Amino acid sequence: MSELTFSIVKPDAVEAGQAGAVLQMILDAGLKIRAMKMIRLTREQAEGFYAVHRERPFFKDLVNYMISGPVVVSVLEGDNAIARYRELMGATDPAKAAEGTIRKRFGKSIEANACHGSDGPDTAKTEVAYFFSRLEMVG
Ligand code: CMP
Repeated sequence: MSELTFSIVKPDAVEAGQAGAVLQMILDAGLKIRAMKMIRLTREQAEGFYAVHRERPFFKDLVNYMISGPVVVSVLEGDNAIARYRELMGATDPAKAAEGTIRKRFGKSIEANACHGSDGPDTAKTEVAYFFSRLEMVG
């Protein structure tokens, strides 16, 4: 069944000029891009997005990192898109990510790990709506 998921190409990858390569890996994996934009998150937006991690020790550093430069946010669509994109991203820690994954190829650390993807259907819905209006969804 076709579903939507939400993706961020994170500041480290955008800064390194790797956004295009990450998006190409997404397309090569057979996922469609339904919406996309480059933005610079405000502190408030980043804190809101990662609110579930508010109590984690890495929260402040994570927010500072996520606002350190532009990100490319997108909505991906495909059969089983949430699980497929998570597999394509690889483990959160690039050191543990499998060969051929985005994080293995472009991740620099557990924080600067190149990309984010929704972890389930409810999160996907919330995250897509956090960044995109219905008018911005194409196709
Ligand atoms: P992401 O999938 O966007 O979800 C939360 C983010 O927190 C994660 O990717 C990493 O960028 C960051 N992070 C930093 N330290 C940790 C950690 N120890 N465990 C999990 N996520 C971490």
